[in-house]
Amino acid sequence: MVEYPIFDVPVLGGSLLIATVAIFHVFISHFSIGAGFLLATAERRAIKNNDNDTLSFLKKYVFLVLLVPYVLGTVSGVGIWFTIALVNPRAISILIHQFVWDWAIEWVLFIVEVVSIFVYVFRWDKMSAKAHNRLGWIFAFCSLATLLVINGILTFMLTPGQWQPFDAGVLNYKALLNPTYLPTTLARITVSLALAGVGAVVLMTFVRKTSDHVRKRIIALAYKFMLPAILCIPLGGWVYTQLSERAQTFLAGGAAPMVLFLMFGMISFLILFLAAAVSLIRKDFSTSSLGAILLCLLAFVSFGSMEFVREGTRKPYVIEGFMYSTGVTVPAYKDLDHHANLLQTNQSGILSAAPWALPSGKSKTEVDSLTLGQAIFNASCLRCHSVDGYNAIRPLVKGWSAQTLRESLDHLDEIKSSMPPFPGTDEEKEALMTYLHSLQDESKK
Ligand code: HEC
Repeated sequence: MVEYPIFDVPVLGGSLLIATVAIFHVFISHFSIGAGFLLATAERRAIKNNDNDTLSFLKKYVFLVLLVPYVLGTVSGVGIWFTIALVNPRAISILIHQFVWDWAIEWVLFIVEVVSIFVYVFRWDKMSAKAHNRLGWIFAFCSLATLLVINGILTFMLTPGQWQPFDAGVLNYKALLNPTYLPTTLARITVSLALAGVGAVVLMTFVRKTSDHVRKRIIALAYKFMLPAILCIPLGGWVYTQLSERAQTFLAGGAAPMVLFLMFGMISFLILFLAAAVSLIRKDFSTSSLGAILLCLLAFVSFGSMEFVREGTRKPYVIEGFMYSTGVTVPAYKDLDHHANLLQTNQSGILSAAPWALPSGKSKTEVDSLTLGQAIFNASCLRCHSVDGYNAIRPLVKGWSAQTLRESLDHLDEIKSSMPPFPGTDEEKEALMTYLHSLQDESKK
């Protein structure tokens, strides 16, 4: 039996903890990729035009706009994998096994990235301008390459496509080059450039002591970097056509908050594009604090909604059509997965697959029915529900009779399409029902 400890995050709940770390990470890491390109482009132009003012401006801010985001992105990236591994260890195990070689490539890229960025930042002026600029490009393209690998893993979870479980080849290209890989990769590239553009405008807004021509050059370049993000609208449509039928139904009206988020996101991309395009056409490179804040807001809403919808549409799966968020695989793979397939856990119980959920050292016959119920809750519901915090279960079941509760456990996946079926035996359903019912008594007190 495979077994992993249960990771109970107070109040936030596991999923919200991941979301918090992930939101920070996706913004800072995409920004860092775009910033690499923006700096290398600006530097190249300045060298060509013999523009020493711009060069010394770039040198002054390279630490702040390139190195700091890069370090924060790297650290929070490790943070994400760490939290996911605790919240959903079985899913991480699959990802690590399927993408061994992609991870190896990723590590090589990381090393080149680290060396190039440190030399770029700390040896500016100590090497020829052209060689220095070349290093900037190496860093930019390496960080783009890390995105190409990571996005394969992310989209694999949403659309595994032709992939067959456990058939890891030398390079598992079927898993990596899955149906949503190309459109989402293109979208992420445009977002990276746009975020860097927005960052540059913010910088130029709050740095007052620069000559006019440096300001104009950088802001004009920043606006140009924001333009391609408009492609996210058609690319979003392309992604939609590649999703599973389940996910499409979910988005096409099944889930009002998702549709709303998607609309907000798309409109924000449009406004961001228009703001940049109009400023470029009118050659208006003035800045204002309000304008800078609004740009940040637009970038946050547009890109944030994309990520939110991606995470939201995947439920009840962690890997679409293969593994539920509970870490249990779907019935079709019963011959491949002898550890925690739904058919098996329905017979032998989720607690047999997750004995760690019980208080340490106790077996399921040694605890009272409430403790047993709580252990079952921890093993099968905790990934999405906390008791009183995020997506709290207590208010959701308020006023439900024991019978309604018990019946709902037979149909969880029908009650909400984003919930997986209950992964245990009838006995376990009884114990879980007792526990859920007891939550109501406590709330009455
Ligand atoms: C993959 C994530 C996920 C898992 C795992 C999960 N749920 Fe849910 N559940 C949800 C979502 C999302 C909702 C909708 C919440 C809302 O409407 O506010 C929900 C709603 C519910 C509701 C309210 C349904 C209604 O009609 O209002 C109940 C009851 C519930 N879940 C019980 C459970 C129990 C018991 C478990 C464990 C056996 C469980 N859930 C596991 C995601 C999940």
